[in-house]
Amino acid sequence: MVLPIVTLLLIGGLAWSRAADAAPVGVRQTLGFDQAWRFHLGEVAGGETPALADADWRTLDVPHDFSIEGPVGADPATMEGPFDKKSPGGTSAGALNGGIGWYRKAFSLPEGSQGKHVEIRFDGVYMDSEVWLNGVSVGTQPYGYSSFQLDLTKNLKPGNNLLALRVNVQQPCSRWYSGAGIYRHVWLVVTDPVHVAPWGTYVTTGEIAAAAAQVSVRTQVRNDGAQAVTANLTSEIFAGDGTKVAELQTEETLAAGASHEFGQALTVGGPRRWSTEDPYIYQVVSALSVGGRVVDRTTTPLGMRTIQFTADNGFLLNGKRVQLKGVCLHHDLGCLGAAVHRRGIERQLEILKAMGCNAIRTSHNPPAPELLDLCDRMGLLVMDEIFDEWVIPKSGMKYGYKRFFEAWSERDLVGMLHRDRNHPSVILWSIGNEIKEQAAPQGGAMAQRLAAICHREDPTRMVTSGINKMGQAITNGFTKALDVVGMNYFTNQYDEQKGKLLVATETSSALSTRGEYGLELKPDGKVRISPRPNNECVSYDLDRPDWGCTAEASLLFISNAPWVAGEFVWTGFDYIGEPTPYGWPSRSSYFGIVDLAGLPKDRYYLYQSQWSDQPVVHLLPHWNWQGFEGKEIPVWCFTNADSVELFLNGHSLGSKDCKVGKSLHLEWQVPYAAGLLKAVATKGGQTFTEEVRTAGEPAKLVVSPDRSQLAADGTDLSYVTVRVVDKDGTLCPNADNPICFGLAGPGTLAGVDNGDPVSHEPFQASQHKAFHGLCVAVIQAGRVPGEIRLQATVQGLPAEAVVISSVSR
Ligand code: GAL
Repeated sequence: MVLPIVTLLLIGGLAWSRAADAAPVGVRQTLGFDQAWRFHLGEVAGGETPALADADWRTLDVPHDFSIEGPVGADPATMEGPFDKKSPGGTSAGALNGGIGWYRKAFSLPEGSQGKHVEIRFDGVYMDSEVWLNGVSVGTQPYGYSSFQLDLTKNLKPGNNLLALRVNVQQPCSRWYSGAGIYRHVWLVVTDPVHVAPWGTYVTTGEIAAAAAQVSVRTQVRNDGAQAVTANLTSEIFAGDGTKVAELQTEETLAAGASHEFGQALTVGGPRRWSTEDPYIYQVVSALSVGGRVVDRTTTPLGMRTIQFTADNGFLLNGKRVQLKGVCLHHDLGCLGAAVHRRGIERQLEILKAMGCNAIRTSHNPPAPELLDLCDRMGLLVMDEIFDEWVIPKSGMKYGYKRFFEAWSERDLVGMLHRDRNHPSVILWSIGNEIKEQAAPQGGAMAQRLAAICHREDPTRMVTSGINKMGQAITNGFTKALDVVGMNYFTNQYDEQKGKLLVATETSSALSTRGEYGLELKPDGKVRISPRPNNECVSYDLDRPDWGCTAEASLLFISNAPWVAGEFVWTGFDYIGEPTPYGWPSRSSYFGIVDLAGLPKDRYYLYQSQWSDQPVVHLLPHWNWQGFEGKEIPVWCFTNADSVELFLNGHSLGSKDCKVGKSLHLEWQVPYAAGLLKAVATKGGQTFTEEVRTAGEPAKLVVSPDRSQLAADGTDLSYVTVRVVDKDGTLCPNADNPICFGLAGPGTLAGVDNGDPVSHEPFQASQHKAFHGLCVAVIQAGRVPGEIRLQATVQGLPAEAVVISSVSR
């Protein structure tokens, strides 16, 4: 069996991407609909009218985020780069503006489409969108994180058609950066009138024994034709190597204009389970035929695993305890904004997995479908969340979800459940984060309604919600509606709530900026750490129970409460917006374990030392403290070794044993002298080391791409890190040189960033400063194969270049 591969077809002068297995006429075609949209920023009277002249609108491909690009109707006097001090969304929304945007796309249908059923699927449009086909409104979608599909069939014409879409991003509408526009992929789905309904397949596993597993396949089939038909549904299950392991055929009669659910039970011998170490995926191929002719074919992933939350032993995957070592993630991809890039998400997940992270919370909204596909493949567990707000608004959220909750909450929730319920990675649904109704008498009934929808649409998973007002949530019956009580912060509740099924849906909210240590030499000759809570050594009080404690404290609270299923740290990556506790000029958050550019902060190695099995020894701070000679500097070491001995310029500063106590780091007070600080760690007889050197003046650049070969598919990315180093190759930790990028060949510079939350340099530019010696440039492949050459130049230093090959696959 050949699984779908993507090929390019040219139809009617327009470029289409399509699934190759859709080739036979009469079988579903899923056509990429991302290319060659016209875009106009701002209101357009009659923007939906086909005759409107749009030749002077910009032509672009989606996914597209117009907020990140820069000024949107702002007063240039308040702008710095793309950031607007007076943005109505404020720094919560990243000081980036929303507004109204129009998209239009002319298209003709592929040959043989006459009499077909045609739908358009948007993976996500931010927000409050309305779609017109040939001037006729075909639907709206207020919530910007829902995937949605619209039936175009009856308004299509032979020849040219015109699709128009308007988004309306009124701010403040979000507590974090949302992005704006068609920021996820778009698909045109052409099927026979008799077809599997959108998200119409629901595959679950019953008993999984060593000998065999029971698989249930429920398939919604629609007959949009004028006649009743007898339809035959063949469901086949394929193992990862393509071998067919089960098959079942069922025949049913479908009335005209009706939907019917096929129910099938299959048995798979010798099942291989899906787990975080072995994320093994089967494929369920559903082939629908009428009169011996195949009219539709769909493929659904299947991961066989059992999941269970327990009151005394946390979360069990396949019957074995797995502590959730999770992080919360917002959806933006740093300098690429909210526009979805599969590789951008994959890179984030790779960085997190290498830290030992095994779980993601999609805070606080349904993610891009790509994230779940990747988590299935990479063996990451997912808490899939729907809302941040119901009816009572969060502070200042004038244009938040409250406007839509009554009319749309069930539809949005069902959409997420149907879209996501086949993913083995998804282990828990969340009906909301810190929902204000927790503390209101109506909250219990509202939570019950949403939890019941989850149970109705997917009885195989439990329901939670992130609670931060536990007392009131209990009084109002809010927690009673949940299967698993989600605790945001309030570490004291880990004990108080013992006996319930519990997960720490949010922990820590520690603050730091990569490379900043806040060491100050005081008049008394002592070195102190600045109280400004964004340096790498300290953040909030160790014992603060309600919100904001150090990463170390959260890790310790969780390890002392094994009845809690684990934690989701706020957050894995810095995100645009919410620069708590600061406002302007900060425009992105300080919470990430990894900065906005994807560069790990020191905290990364703390988590790695506690969450992963690999040997970790990491020293901080850097060792460039000219002017501090002879003064004692705190040196920290994150490690999972048995003991560590520290040396300065060859002299031992003593060895320390790692004991689990109140802290998870070792600390020395080291009189500063330039040179080499070296940690020698010992674990079970093995030795491993870490060195930090004093750097000299910037002398050269080191340019390292994370991938040196790309697919020439117009979307693939290479993240190139530029390091400013001295003549011996030591990173210059204070370097902030402006770096100019020059790109040649079939690719583009998609973004540049250095992780500085206060920088106002544009993300989409060919120049960016280094921040603590580092900067990242993102190269996006074009559709033509060839060599892409990126050159980085800093005034006074030799230019450095890297060549990336982009190949047809
Ligand atoms: C939490 C909230 C998150 C984020 C975080 C910042 O209370 O759920 O969305 O705002 O605080 O610390």
